[in-house]
Amino acid sequence: MSVTDPAGTPVFEFRNVSAYRGGTLVFDGLDLRIEKGENTAILGPNGSGKSTLLKLLSREIYPVHSPGSRMLVYGRDRWNVEELRSGLGMVSNDLQEDYGRYAKGRDVILSGYYSSIDIWPHQCFSPTQLLQADALMRQLGIEGLAERPFGRMSTGQQRRFLLGRALVHTPDALLLDEPTGGLDLSATFQYLDTVRSLMQSGTQLILVTHHLHEIPPEISRVVFLRNGRIVADGDKSTLLDSAGVSGLFGRPVEVIERNGFYQAVPGA
Ligand SMILES: Nc1ncnc2c1ncn2[C@@H]1O[C@H](COP(=O)(O)OP(=O)(O)OP(=O)(O)O)[C@@H](O)[C@H]1O
Ligand SMILES: [Mg+2]
Repeated sequence: MSVTDPAGTPVFEFRNVSAYRGGTLVFDGLDLRIEKGENTAILGPNGSGKSTLLKLLSREIYPVHSPGSRMLVYGRDRWNVEELRSGLGMVSNDLQEDYGRYAKGRDVILSGYYSSIDIWPHQCFSPTQLLQADALMRQLGIEGLAERPFGRMSTGQQRRFLLGRALVHTPDALLLDEPTGGLDLSATFQYLDTVRSLMQSGTQLILVTHHLHEIPPEISRVVFLRNGRIVADGDKSTLLDSAGVSGLFGRPVEVIERNGFYQAVPGA
């Protein structure tokens, strides 16, 4: 299902957005616009506001109401939350922690149709939806775990089920929050293969992270976030170097680029 408006509408646009988490003012007048098709990584240190940004988008938290403030997703500021979440496929560590331990693998995928945690007796699934869930499990290499409860899977297996859950609606944009946290090398590379093939077939990726290694080569734009403020925004090839990343994290970092992938090591 597509929820996007005609071409030219940004995926989202924050104008003068302020937001609290508990008693912390995380954003104080944030402006950020991401165009449709613009594969973007939002990078920043711990506590800079990355997860808060995604929670604002998915309406898990709400901004401070003020007349000069707008938060548009696909050009709209009012959304049915279920419809919104089906157009933006999200995977995050928080979702993984909150997800029920007893949900079976196949049901984790199916729960994406209702943006719910596990599936419930009142929910109905069409034969097409059931077939699509099986096809997604095959695509992600997890079909053998269809009956396994979520709490008895490894971190990487859980992550793949949550990716499948996010993909049931064929979302226009995938929003991933530190997707390779807890994954081993093989699972990390498998994640990169999966998101790269999704991007090549037209899914837009918006990634928030502090790990340079999980940025696929297809990402073109990077936004540096620090203390809830955008300190740099532009082409990855220009910004993602040792000086830029050292400034962002406040310590010397050497950035190494190989074949479009990045790594960071301590700088001198
Ligand atoms: N539930 C909460 N109650 C109060 N403050 C919170 C809460 N969650 C987050 N914060 C604060 O909000 C700020 C932004 O947190 P956020 O989780 O968005 O950061 P982040 O960039 O995702 O960090 P990380 O890289 O560690 O995931 C931090 O100062 C954090 O301490
Ligand atoms: Mg976070």
